[in-house]
Amino acid sequence: MAILSLISGAALVGASLVSAKTCLNVTVPVNINARQGVFDVPTLQSNIDVVTFALNNTKQGSNFTEEALTGITNVVGSYNISAKYCMPDSNSTTTSSSPVVQVLSHGIGFDKSYWDLPYNDYNYSYTDVALANGYYTVAIDRFGIGNSSHADPLNVVQAQAEISALYEVTMKLRNGTFPGVNTTFSKVVHVGHSFGSAQTYALSAMYPNVTDGVVLTGFSLNSTWVAETLAGWNLHIARLNQPLRFGNSTVQRTRFSNSWFGTEPVTLLQSLLSLIGIDLSSYETWEEIATTEIGDILNTWNASVAPIPQDLPTGYLTWSDLTSNIFAFLHPSNFDIGLAVDSEQTKQPVTLGEIFTLPIAPKMSTFSGPALVVTGQYDNIYCGGDCYATGGQGSNIPNISVASAFPDASKFEAYIQPDTGHGINLHYNSTAAYQVIQDFLKSNLS
Ligand SMILES: *[C@@H]1O[C@H](CO)[C@@H](O)[C@H](O)[C@H]1NC(C)=O
Ligand SMILES: *[C@@H]1O[C@H](CO)[C@@H](O)[C@H](O)[C@H]1NC(C)=O
Ligand SMILES: *[C@@H]1O[C@H](CO)[C@@H](O)[C@H](O)[C@H]1NC(C)=O
Ligand SMILES: *[C@@H]1O[C@H](CO)[C@@H](O)[C@H](O)[C@H]1NC(C)=O
Ligand SMILES: *[C@@H]1O[C@H](CO)[C@@H](O)[C@H](O)[C@H]1NC(C)=O
Ligand SMILES: *[C@@H]1O[C@H](CO)[C@@H](O)[C@H](O)[C@H]1NC(C)=O
Ligand SMILES: *[C@@H]1O[C@H](CO)[C@@H](O)[C@H](O)[C@H]1NC(C)=O
Ligand SMILES: *[C@@H]1O[C@H](CO)[C@@H](O)[C@H](O)[C@H]1NC(C)=O
Ligand SMILES: *[C@@H]1O[C@H](CO)[C@@H](O)[C@H](O)[C@H]1NC(C)=O
Ligand SMILES: *[C@@H]1O[C@H](CO)[C@@H](O)[C@H](O)[C@H]1NC(C)=O
Ligand SMILES: *[C@@H]1O[C@H](CO)[C@@H](O)[C@H](O)[C@H]1NC(C)=O
Ligand SMILES: *[C@@H]1O[C@H](CO)[C@@H](O)[C@H](O)[C@H]1NC(C)=O
Repeated sequence: MAILSLISGAALVGASLVSAKTCLNVTVPVNINARQGVFDVPTLQSNIDVVTFALNNTKQGSNFTEEALTGITNVVGSYNISAKYCMPDSNSTTTSSSPVVQVLSHGIGFDKSYWDLPYNDYNYSYTDVALANGYYTVAIDRFGIGNSSHADPLNVVQAQAEISALYEVTMKLRNGTFPGVNTTFSKVVHVGHSFGSAQTYALSAMYPNVTDGVVLTGFSLNSTWVAETLAGWNLHIARLNQPLRFGNSTVQRTRFSNSWFGTEPVTLLQSLLSLIGIDLSSYETWEEIATTEIGDILNTWNASVAPIPQDLPTGYLTWSDLTSNIFAFLHPSNFDIGLAVDSEQTKQPVTLGEIFTLPIAPKMSTFSGPALVVTGQYDNIYCGGDCYATGGQGSNIPNISVASAFPDASKFEAYIQPDTGHGINLHYNSTAAYQVIQDFLKSNLS
């Protein structure tokens, strides 16, 4: 019961407060041009098919990306990228003479709101920290995700097309054609989280002079734990998992209160179960809902995330529930359960094409500016649950695996955020990690 009221209360606080920062919602038209794989996988009909796909991808000693690959093609097209552009306070240091913009690429399961979460009065906002340090920010929904254009989830929405979109957004900021914005930026820093870091890293390898600084959060170049990650997600079809956001369900969206779900479904399920002789307390019933897919199905309409149901094809997948979310992203004891529920409520899907291109990263980047990696100490996806397993401060996994990939960097550092899992932003003290990033940039950007 305590958790129940905590969660409703927390969600209400988040929804009622408004940030004072100056931001614009921008739709950026981009011409994507990417050389990508053509994969042959049967159209997924059911969650059972998704399990088969997961088994294909996690089988030891085999490479399903290789098996399913039938060719390479150029994917070309005009699409839209949804972005949030924010300006620093005019008192800040870099605003006037040489403005620096940070382009923020989210990871799998998130969208651009990762960088500016309204939760608890924006207490987890990367954007606020960057703005306070005088930087402009542009957070994008990666191509294929959130309010950006959607496309074929197998052979169009892959890493290379997303990198092409990131390149386009970058060039527009540099040449003064970014919509609605009058500033021409001669300095652009790229900041990623997780898969957004993999793309940021790849951008710096493919076009080393379009970026002035590279920050890779929730990242390493050790792909040992990809199979464990796919297994832990227990992937399902997104439109079945959250029909109100990812399907085309027309169920009344205002039925429950404006939290994940109100007390009504708990009472309802409890009396239903009781009718057939199963007596659970209301807390036990809450657990049945919150920690299983039932919670995702009941997930309330949230207009700030997706104004219309996305009606996604079945090649858009998502992890099954709050517990798989916690397994992949959170370090127990250092997060607010209300925020975990919030992130499950607002999660975004992953495409088959993204899964095939997850580990595709160039061996090295000839980028010659400053590069920083910031990874949570207990990151499950990139450190197998312990970034220090390799022994001690200097030889942590992100440092060992990434330092040699930036042989020309003017400065390289791997920073381990204490007591934190893969989803850095969702932990207490995340803004202190964000300050570490701004300090690094201030000291090392030329
Ligand atoms: C899984 O792999 C098998 C064997 O290669 C293949 O026949 C099947 O189509 C694949 N199914 C999915 C959903 O990936
Ligand atoms: C699997 O196959 C793909 C496509 O050929 C290749 O790019 C990738 O490096 C392979 N992965 C491993 C771990 O060998
Ligand atoms: C991009 O968005 C504009 C509206 O802002 C719309 O007119 C256009 O059709 C969209 N383009 C694509 C490719 O979706
Ligand atoms: C900007 O600086 C002026 C003068 O120091 C100060 O009065 C004002 O409060 C500052 N504005 C903000 C938003 O911090
Ligand atoms: C925000 O974080 C600060 C510092 O951790 C804390 O003192 C404050 O209570 C938090 N505010 C909210 C609304 O959570
Ligand atoms: C600016 O960059 C965009 C994206 O690459 C490109 O389409 C556009 O032609 C460029 N505009 C100018 C004026 O250089
Ligand atoms: C860009 O300039 C136009 C015309 O001067 C102005 O109306 C608009 O507010 C400016 N936009 C931004 C983001 O500063
Ligand atoms: C990057 O380098 C290439 C080749 O030297 C050059 O043509 C291009 O103009 C450079 N781009 C930027 C943004 O400096
Ligand atoms: C990944 O990290 C593990 C240590 O946990 C190490 O044994 C392995 O060699 C590393 N692999 C790569 C490619 O860095
Ligand atoms: C919803 O999606 C299903 C499956 O794609 C389709 O058969 C149905 O016509 C759609 N319903 C609406 C109202 O769009
Ligand atoms: C930007 O979009 C978000 C989400 O759709 C919305 O809540 C917000 O009010 C919009 N902001 C502006 C300045 O239009
Ligand atoms: C919070 O994060 C900062 C920056 O990484 C670190 O110095 C500090 O020790 C952290 N505090 C706690 C309590 O973990």
